[in-house]
Amino acid sequence: METKLYQLSDLTYILRLLEQDEIIAFPTETVFGLGGNAFSDRACCNIYQAKGRPSDNPFIIHIAHIDQLNLVAQNIPDLAYQLFSRFTPGPLTIILPKSETVSPVATAQLSSVAVRIPAHPSARALLRACPFPLAAPSANRSGRPSPTNSSMVMKELQGRIAGVLDGTPAQYGLESTVISCLHDEVLLLRPGAVSLEELETFLHDLGHTIRIAQHVIDAVSPGMRHAHYQPAYPIKLFTQEHLSFLQSVQLQEKTGLLILKKTYHQIPFQLAASWQVRIFTDEKDFARQLYQTLVEFERQGIKLVYAELPCCQGLGLALCDRLQHAAANQGISKDG
Ligand code: TXA
Ligand code: MG
Repeated sequence: METKLYQLSDLTYILRLLEQDEIIAFPTETVFGLGGNAFSDRACCNIYQAKGRPSDNPFIIHIAHIDQLNLVAQNIPDLAYQLFSRFTPGPLTIILPKSETVSPVATAQLSSVAVRIPAHPSARALLRACPFPLAAPSANRSGRPSPTNSSMVMKELQGRIAGVLDGTPAQYGLESTVISCLHDEVLLLRPGAVSLEELETFLHDLGHTIRIAQHVIDAVSPGMRHAHYQPAYPIKLFTQEHLSFLQSVQLQEKTGLLILKKTYHQIPFQLAASWQVRIFTDEKDFARQLYQTLVEFERQGIKLVYAELPCCQGLGLALCDRLQHAAANQGISKDG
């Protein structure tokens, strides 16, 4: 199958492909998604197949507008409407009781469904024109870093999907914040650009609380993690407090370094000229460029990457989560 790059001007043709259960990658403000008809078992099976994704890992269902919520969910609490009104269109996904219409393949047979209203103008144009919601996981092969621009998707899924809708690169660069509203206490399942602190403040004013799911706590602290967001080489993490070990590993060849600007200026020695160094102005810049940089390093034949683990506040929590997964069980370097 040849994978074609489409423009918004090809929208009518893209819709025809989706109606035939083909799957199409499209831009969102977080990462690119791989979309198919959320009401069609066959389209959803095609997504699992193209990604090589285990069939017990459900997709997020994307809709254009809050008015379409009842197409995909039922018994929707007022709180979910309030959260959607406040934070979307944007990088927040909410788990709700599933409606009958959504394909059980999309939700991996669960009775709940993850719903998101993306803000990216191309995603919005696509979803507004589409006669059904789109089930869309991130448009990477299972376990790999998520694509944040259309050429990354092309390289990742060429020959496996019908097409890619072109569009501006992802503004945030990390997947959406996922919360569950299935119970009175809101649960944070995946940190993202809508931060825990923002959610806490908003929920507090409405008399609700939010708790971080145990698997997130495990993920951001060293120890138990599933392989996810991983490039072809090992990643070792370090913190701002432990920079001196970098001196002892200077002679390593084909090495990459991901570091925040403020930390970079604290390195008390000259780094080896052979190292590929990426300096990020702040956490937002780090998040936006993380996956793209990891994939670029692969192309450059980098064999090992040292990455700074920022502090776990605000967007830092999402960055820590993705970096800890990407570095699966390599631990935090203190002495090389
Ligand atoms: O930013 C994003 O969320 C991107 C863009 C494309 O929208 N999508 C994305 O999808 O990251 P994916 O499939 O890579 O991640 C979805 C996450 C998975 O961890 C999945 O297990 C979880 O959401 N999820 C989906 N449905 C769920 C459900 N019913 N209950 C609990 N977790 C669910
Ligand atoms: Mg993903």
